[in-house]
Amino acid sequence: MKKQLPELINLPKIDDPRGNLTFIEEENHIPFQIKRVYWIYDVPGGETRGGHAFREQQELIVALSGSFDVEVNHGSGIQRFHLNRSYFGLYIPNGLWRNLDNFSTNAVALVLSSTIYDESDYIRNFEEFLSYTSGR
Ligand code: TYD
Repeated sequence: MKKQLPELINLPKIDDPRGNLTFIEEENHIPFQIKRVYWIYDVPGGETRGGHAFREQQELIVALSGSFDVEVNHGSGIQRFHLNRSYFGLYIPNGLWRNLDNFSTNAVALVLSSTIYDESDYIRNFEEFLSYTSGR
């Protein structure tokens, strides 16, 4: 099966002297239907979030405020993204391991998800992830 890679998506940005505006339409700017939205905030300095892969869940991660890094491991390589603009979204296909770190003060990570929350969709053990991804 083809392994998909993470991709930085340049979202629409309506520049306006009154303040800028960005929007996302499912299946137009992102390749999935949005089933859930969650956000990560108040992250203490030096903390790491993520640390897992999803079997089915696809995501788009946006730095709504502040900045942070997303490291994506796709089994055959690692890519690191610095998110610091609210008009960029990082699309992460299913089946990839991710860590979020280097959070700035007041960083807010908005996550659009293709699935509702389901703990059985998580792979939280890195060795299990490696054998899962090598078999795909
Ligand atoms: P987790 O996805 O591991 O956090 P991270 O964003 O760092 O990867 O979720 C942390 C906890 O929150 C875990 O106990 C599951 C719970 N949770 C929900 O109940 N619903 C959700 O939509 C999410 C994302 C997490």
